Amino acid sequence: MVKKTQATWGGRFTEKPADLMIRFSESISFDRRLAPFDVRGSKAHAAMLCHVDLLTTRERNAIQRGLDAILKEIEKGEFKWDESLEDVHMNIEQALGKKVPAAAKLHTGRSRNDQVATDMHLFFKSACADIENVLNGLLTTLVEKADAHRDIFVPGYTHLQRAQPVSLAHHWLAYVEMFARDRGRFQTVADHANFCPLGAAALAGSTLPLDREFAARELGFVDRKGRPQLTRNSLDAVADRDLFLEFATACAICGTHFSRVAEDLILWSTVEFDFLELPEAFTTGSSLMPQKKNSDSMELLRGKAARLQGNAQTLFTLIKGLPMTYNRDMQEDKRPVFDALDQTIICLQVLTGVIEGTTVNVAACKTAASDPQLLATDLVDYLVGRKVPFREAHHAVGKLVALAEKAGLPLDELPHDLARKAHPKIGTDWQKVFDIETAMKNREKTGMPGPKQIRKEINRWRKQLAKK
Ligand code: ARG
Repeated sequence: MVKKTQATWGGRFTEKPADLMIRFSESISFDRRLAPFDVRGSKAHAAMLCHVDLLTTRERNAIQRGLDAILKEIEKGEFKWDESLEDVHMNIEQALGKKVPAAAKLHTGRSRNDQVATDMHLFFKSACADIENVLNGLLTTLVEKADAHRDIFVPGYTHLQRAQPVSLAHHWLAYVEMFARDRGRFQTVADHANFCPLGAAALAGSTLPLDREFAARELGFVDRKGRPQLTRNSLDAVADRDLFLEFATACAICGTHFSRVAEDLILWSTVEFDFLELPEAFTTGSSLMPQKKNSDSMELLRGKAARLQGNAQTLFTLIKGLPMTYNRDMQEDKRPVFDALDQTIICLQVLTGVIEGTTVNVAACKTAASDPQLLATDLVDYLVGRKVPFREAHHAVGKLVALAEKAGLPLDELPHDLARKAHPKIGTDWQKVFDIETAMKNREKTGMPGPKQIRKEINRWRKQLAKK
């Protein structure tokens, strides 16, 4: 008499897996979130089997109704997950077997290897769409901030030293560029996910008359013209984990961006800078020091960025040494991408909330931006305009800066005769260079912070975002 073995693959076994093995190898604790995709995949597979006469219409309908009922139970939290059935695929198939006799035919021409690949392709398409949505919200917030802050200037920094002035709008729009590139990366991942692995089966396809195109169409794995898109090699279809790497990397790069924004906001909200006031809703106090208002949300964004890099790293290390094709190591590929998705979404939402609620200390920005040294480079350009070779002009203005520092005067208040000592081509109009509005108006080429350019960029982004 054969002892009770694992129900789905237990045929060749006489013993049950050890309890420890069951606990060790289960993935149901985390891959249950694939249930909606697994049900969709199975319904499409059943439709295809019926289409090629491997299921009757009745059997197909019973299977599809049964799967819908199971998904409802799952959504209501009434489904009983069984650890000994390993994963989401077998839990659902077993539950279906209890409702529908034809469930025994559902796995015809399919393996969990192409099944999990299909689930994950569907998951990535949905995950990328979700992130794109949140990114669009953030982009809209940034563009509106830019519009509100067109006339506020701040010093731009290199090496964290004051460099040249820019409008605050230009600064927000820099972040827009970063996050729009992220959005493009997620769109690319979604495009790469848009190929149906079903039919690859375990690794070598199937002798059965499967209609791969039919299944692909059912699941929306189609190009713009509605033509089905299929994975082109059955070995690659079950071995490939590029989407995991691409998605986690896209999240890590996005994390790098929001971490840098967070660092700017932390710095700018210090008493030392005082350009911004972060919203109370996203700051915290100290249990000891009553005056403190800490930028914990921004610090967490920096911290989470590290976690996102860790997820990508885990996946690279997981995959790099694996022989063709499927290996059970791959079960560890899901947690990092689930975590990457969840953390990326919440981080982007928090950042959006913080930026929406941030107020600008206009006076502090104005004081900082009116430091005349910020326009020393414009004075160099002024001399270049008077045919002084750039290197010579640069040197002369350097001397001027030193003179001003020695005289204890702001650069633009140096008396004219003293200024002329730095270079004979310095005319009586040299101090006009230090008008910040003029300085900005002189920067109207594409990508520069001139006011017309800023308006153009804001309009361009608004139009682009409205299309979505
Ligand atoms: N839970 C498994 C995973 O995610 C599904 C695929 C199992 N395939 C197998 N040949 N054991 O990797």
